[in-house]
Parts: sequence; C-alpha cells; structure tokens
Amino acid sequence: MTERSIPQHVAIIMDGNGRWAQARGKKRTSGHKVGVEKARETVEIAGKLGVESLTLFAFSSENWQRPEEEVSFLMELFVVALKREVKMLNKHGVRLRFLGDTTAFNKKLQQSIAEAEELTANNDKLRLNVAANYGGRWDIVNSVNQFITEHQGKKAITEAELEANLSTSQLPNLDLLIRTGGETRISNFLIWQAAYAELFFTDVLWPDFGQAEFEKAVESYSSRQRRFGKTGEQVDAK
Ligand code: FPP
Repeated sequence: MTERSIPQHVAIIMDGNGRWAQARGKKRTSGHKVGVEKARETVEIAGKLGVESLTLFAFSSENWQRPEEEVSFLMELFVVALKREVKMLNKHGVRLRFLGDTTAFNKKLQQSIAEAEELTANNDKLRLNVAANYGGRWDIVNSVNQFITEHQGKKAITEAELEANLSTSQLPNLDLLIRTGGETRISNFLIWQAAYAELFFTDVLWPDFGQAEFEKAVESYSSRQRRFGKTGEQVDAK
C-alpha cells in the first residue's frame, strides 16, 4: 500500500448544526453547542494526523441575516468557547488566528479574540484559523484595497501581490476543503485559495463529524493526483 499523503492545510465548512438539532426536536442553538465540541475534537484529530493548518468557517459575512436570537447566541457561544478552550489550545502548541472582519463583533468578543491570538502567537504545532465574519470576496477586495493604499499610482496588481495581502498569506496553500451537511457549494468561503484545492463533500452533518469522516476525506485527497494544470505523465515523471 502506498503511504497516504497528509494535506498541509485543511479547511472545513461546518454545516448542518441546525438540521441536526431539529431532527431531534431540539432548538437549532443546541446543535451549535454540539458543533463547538466537534470543532474542538476536530482540532485534536488534525493535530494527530499531522495537518499543519486547519481553517474552520465559524461565521460568514452572510450569517448576520439569521434571526437575531441565533446570532446573539452564537456570539455568546464563541466568547464562552474561547475562554474555556484557549488554555488547552495553548498547552498543545496551537496558534490561534481569526480570519475576517472581526471589528464588527461586540467588544467582549473582540477582546477575547485579541487575548487568545496574543497568548498563542508563538506556538507552532498546529495553526488553527477561525474564519469569523469572513467572506471570500471580502478577502479579495480587502487585499486589493490594501494594495491601492500602499501603492498609489500603480495601475495593475499581480497574483502574487494580491495573495500577499489575503488573510491567509502566512499559511500554507489550501490543499483540502471539506464541507459537511450535504450541500455542494463553496458559499463564498476561501474562493481564491480553493483554486487548486481538492474538494470533499459529505452528507454527514457537522455534529456527527468525527475521526472516521476526517480520515475518509484525507484518504480521498491522498488518492487523487494533483496535476495543477499539467498532464498526468508530466506529474508522474517528476
Ligand atoms: C453551521 O450549521 C453552523 C454555523 C454557521 C454556526 C457556527 C459554527 C459552530 C457553532 C461550530 C463551532 C466553531 C468554532 C470554531 C467555535 P447551520 O446552522 O448552517 O446548520 P443548517 O444548515 O442545518 O441550518
């Protein structure tokens, strides 16, 4: 058996919390609570597998449109989860970073985010990136705007220059993008970064995600030949 290759950077769209709860006659918010537990478990699995960078889509720019009650529940849940988990993450060498426009969050959450990022800034075992108030189009526009500010008068931007200001610029290239919950779209997640990523869609709802499904995604990634536009023969000859 050939050795499986471990993706350096995995991103996950954690979908299906609401449906998971509703199927059990519970409120959608109880699905989010289990969702947080699953996120924690997934960080552990990623670390054990040897993944270098894990990016979780926690809250999209579009999620503000959910009922007010659900949005405030999520904000409070993030604060509590951060406070509860950050020490453990730090102990295990996890470097936590938030991707997205976090200035839109309430002061309490912004403060917890800043403290967690600062505390874990020098860790290097696993990079955990939480995309919050994140949108792929926002990321691209934000990068271009930074470029314009820094290079007044320049008439064009290169791919490398655009990439340099994306929120993921310090991270390895995205290798594998997983979406749970049965939908087969990227939903404005890492749209630039996903250009050459392998995509893995599963019907499993996020609260049911675990080691077995994560391993399935890695197996699937490992079995595919990544050609980056070249022919199969060119890749084999390398
Ligand atoms: C997706 O399920 C869940 C969200 C968009 C909410 C936030 C994610 C969590 C609570 C997981 C925790 C993550 C971290 C890093 C703290 P959905 O509500 O879209 O489910 P549905 O499609 O069944 O309605």
